[in-house]
Amino acid sequence: MVGASDSSRPAAGGTRKVHVKSFGCQMNVYDSDRIADTLASQGYVTTATPEDADLVVLNTCNIREKAAEKVYSELGRMRVLKQEAAQQDRRMTIAVAGCVAQAEGGEIIRRAPTVDLVVGSQSYHRLPQLLAQAQHGPVIDTEFPPEDKFDFLAPPSDAAIRARGISAFVTVQEGCDKFCTFCVVPYTRGAEVSRPVAKIVADAERLAQSGVREITLIGQNVNAYHGEGPDGRAWTLGRLIEKIAGIRGIVRLRYTTSHPRDMDDSLIAAHRDIDALMPTLHLPVQSGSDRILAAMNRKHTRADYMAVIERLRTARPDMAFTSDFIVGFPGESEQEFQDTLDLIDDVRFSTAYSFKYSARPGTPAADREEQLTEAQKSERLLRLQGAVLRDQDAFNEATVGRTLPVLFEKPGRNAGQIKGRSPYQQTVHVTSPAARIGEIADVTITEAIGNVLLGALADELPTPALMEVQRA
Ligand code: 5AD
Ligand code: SF4
Repeated sequence: MVGASDSSRPAAGGTRKVHVKSFGCQMNVYDSDRIADTLASQGYVTTATPEDADLVVLNTCNIREKAAEKVYSELGRMRVLKQEAAQQDRRMTIAVAGCVAQAEGGEIIRRAPTVDLVVGSQSYHRLPQLLAQAQHGPVIDTEFPPEDKFDFLAPPSDAAIRARGISAFVTVQEGCDKFCTFCVVPYTRGAEVSRPVAKIVADAERLAQSGVREITLIGQNVNAYHGEGPDGRAWTLGRLIEKIAGIRGIVRLRYTTSHPRDMDDSLIAAHRDIDALMPTLHLPVQSGSDRILAAMNRKHTRADYMAVIERLRTARPDMAFTSDFIVGFPGESEQEFQDTLDLIDDVRFSTAYSFKYSARPGTPAADREEQLTEAQKSERLLRLQGAVLRDQDAFNEATVGRTLPVLFEKPGRNAGQIKGRSPYQQTVHVTSPAARIGEIADVTITEAIGNVLLGALADELPTPALMEVQRA
């Protein structure tokens, strides 16, 4: 195999540096790490800044027009840096990876000739060979190759895992077969594929051995997981979670993103039975109107969604829910938008992400005539965000006075502070020695400032009896 090292001039000091910039979802964050791991096996070290990089990889997102356009403004910046490097007789290679690469392919090089390499979301395990080719002229690889990229990607080193912290992602499933009419994912990420249980468990064990305490299982449609188990049969996500919860060192599990149609009995039972599975669920509903849900091809009604929420609350009463919403889907009337606000009132989400509908080329909804104006969409977005913020504040306020288990992740902003996460993903700051990072400890929440909580370690709080003594 020809390594990329054969063809580019080493930077000062002999090592080559790569800067990987990630846009968009958690899947891209994970992929960016795997790209860095694969390039590390080729002798690249990562650099936090593009200025000194020999190779810049932009791992792009195509979900909305704004995200896709960001890539081109970033490429404008890279063109200048590349010219500056050339003036210093240094070659800078520019690669575009991810969903814009997959969707636009060679069009990227036509619009931005500074790009040397376009690599799709299923081909980045081929980066070493592609980089070698790119030294001789532009290269484009946006195929969906027959091999599983995960079989060819270098695993992260112990040092890389430790540097990334105690919370890690593991991809268990990729792609989507749902074809919501607004969404590019089925086209950019391809058909739904689940990784086998044994490979996921091996990844999780490696992470746990290097100090990871929390794993988030990720997939575009994660609860449609149906990977092959060690018994040769398809396992559900619920069963996979049970298996991973048994790995020594893994104390917390999460998963994202789910589709309401795929919340099966085993997953709901997992929320009831498995302590390590956190009582939160990101379950996008997109709209509260049955007519819009049908036009979106969501394959469920509002009542179906509410029934899933009820079943989960019965299984795990302290469950908190988050969602994604799209406002201004083609043809959405004021009443249909009100139906979404009404659903928000019914569920009371702990937080939610909301987006103005963005027409994506090649998706069915983009061709509909009844597109709303930007002004209409902006106005609805503001109203929806107001409702979400009201519930988010109420949710956070309701934790004041409660004692919650917090997994500490890193030093806090102020000296002597550390910060971690509550079961509900809220950031919690306490005064404590850094030695407790990596531990779970009970914290009594004393104040909520937006979605940041302040608290005191419960095992260091004076007991009520002691407080009586002190007052006397
Ligand atoms: N316009 C606006 N938002 C979109 N999303 C997906 N496609 C679009 C689009 N065309 C949102 C959905 C999805 C989240 C990841 O992005 O809410 O759940
Ligand atoms: Fe896109 Fe719908 Fe698939 Fe989610 S379920 S990735 S919104 S097509």
